[in-house]
Amino acid sequence: MHTMLVGQRSLATQRRGRHVSGSSAHPDRMAPDLAVALIYDYTQPGDLAVDPFAGVGTTLAEAVRGGRDAYGVEYDPGWVALARANLALARRQSGIGHGQIVRGDVTRLPAAPRRELRGRASLVLTAPPSSATMPVSPRSSARHNRVDLMDGITAALEECVPLLNPNGLIVVVSRSSRRTPVLLDAVAADLSLLAVRHAAYATMRAGRLVAGRHHVDGIRYDDILVLRPRRGRRP
Ligand SMILES: C[S@@+](CC[C@H](N)C(=O)[O-])C[C@H]1O[C@@H](n2cnc3c(N)ncnc32)[C@H](O)[C@@H]1O
Repeated sequence: MHTMLVGQRSLATQRRGRHVSGSSAHPDRMAPDLAVALIYDYTQPGDLAVDPFAGVGTTLAEAVRGGRDAYGVEYDPGWVALARANLALARRQSGIGHGQIVRGDVTRLPAAPRRELRGRASLVLTAPPSSATMPVSPRSSARHNRVDLMDGITAALEECVPLLNPNGLIVVVSRSSRRTPVLLDAVAADLSLLAVRHAAYATMRAGRLVAGRHHVDGIRYDDILVLRPRRGRRP
């Protein structure tokens, strides 16, 4: 089994100079070293990477730093503003890739990206939200603007499938304890599971392991699910 070690540098070190101030308010950011490793594993320079749950834009910014193009969607306007600033920072630092983040509900992609990005993405790389429900745009009634997390992730992945090119992959990162719901979602969205990888982080302070909220014996594990649309589901 392949475990990616992405905690050799502390998260603070990984983020220094890569995230604008204020980004640390986001409770669930991806480790930049993990985003970089996955982007380099699954894309080439010039490719398009999409993050439907973009948060403060960690994956988008790392794609742009690596000379890829990036497109992201995020529901919360505050995170969108920070993601925009993080993307601008990455663009100033690398000067190669182009990134765009839009405020919206990824379970209902706006018509423009749906049309313009169709068949273009090499990678959908994302860490879905973690609460029991997630916000969506009101459908029939303004009172029903949250859906069960699993339904929401399934809808989001289904919206992303048409954006993939014929070799495109979906890579979902989630804490190990959340694997089952994500897997169930993947199946519901009619995706094949190609690989399960793991990422391990250990936080060290003064030479000692520091136990965090999601750590087992001082180490936090994330599951990385590598998925692709089943045959017949291609756009
Ligand atoms: C785990 S966080 C992603 C963090 C991101 N990888 C980063 O490093 O900043 C999941 C994000 O999904 C967003 N979200 C939840 N529901 C959404 C929806 N329907 N459409 C778009 N984004 C949504 C949340 O606001 C949250 O920022």
